[in-house]
Amino acid sequence: MKFFADTAVISEIRELADTGLLDGVTTNPSLIKKSGGDFIETVREIATITSGPISAEVIALDHDGMMREAEVLRKIADNIAIKVPLTPAGLKTCKALTSDGTMVNVTLCFSAAQALIAAKAGASFISPFVGRLDDVGFNGMDLIADIRMIYDNYDFSTEILVASVRHPMHIVEAAKIGADVCTAPTKIFMQLFNHPSTDAGIAAFLKDWEATGQAIG
Ligand code: E4P
Repeated sequence: MKFFADTAVISEIRELADTGLLDGVTTNPSLIKKSGGDFIETVREIATITSGPISAEVIALDHDGMMREAEVLRKIADNIAIKVPLTPAGLKTCKALTSDGTMVNVTLCFSAAQALIAAKAGASFISPFVGRLDDVGFNGMDLIADIRMIYDNYDFSTEILVASVRHPMHIVEAAKIGADVCTAPTKIFMQLFNHPSTDAGIAAFLKDWEATGQAIG
C-alpha cells in the first residue's frame, strides 16, 4: 500500500518523507487555505520533496475551465496528478487528460456507482472519502470493499486512493481490503508506529543492557 501525505504543510510532508514512508501527496483547496501558502508555489515546493504523485485540484466546474487550469497545474512538475470532482464535466476532463498521458485523481467519491464511472473515464486514482461517509452514518470501509470488487471484476487499473482518513485503523482496514493508496495527515501515519508493548520492551531491554555494563563499538 502506498502512503500519500494529505496536507499542504511542507514541514508535515518532510516529516513523513524522513521516515521513508512517503509515496506522494494530496492537496485540496481547504488544505491550501489551512497551510496559508500560495497554491502554485506550495505545489512547486512539494515537488522538490517527492517524485511520487502530487494531487493538485482544479477549481473550475466546467470542462473548458478545468482543462485551462489543468494546463497551468501540470506544468508545475512531471508528477502532478490533476484532481477533478466526480461530475460529468470532471469525468470528461479526466478522459481528455488521461488520454493525453496526464495522471488524474477523481475526488469526492461517495458511492460504488461513482467509482465505476470514474474508472470507465480512465481515472488514475479514485478518492472515496471514508471519514466523511462514517460521519453521516454510513460505513466508509464497505465502500472500499465494493470498489475493490468492481475494479477486480473488470481489471480496471484505476488505483483506489482511500481519502478522508481519520485514524490508524482506517489504514489497516483499507490494507486488508487491498486498497492501493491511503492519504492521511502525517500525524495519523506516525500513529502507526505506536504500541505500548514496543515502548515497554525497549525500556526493559535498555535496563538489562545497562546491567551488563557493556557497550557496542
Ligand atoms: C484528499 O484527497 C481529500 O481531499 C481529503 O482526504 C479529505 O479529507 P477530510 O474529509 O478530512 O477533509
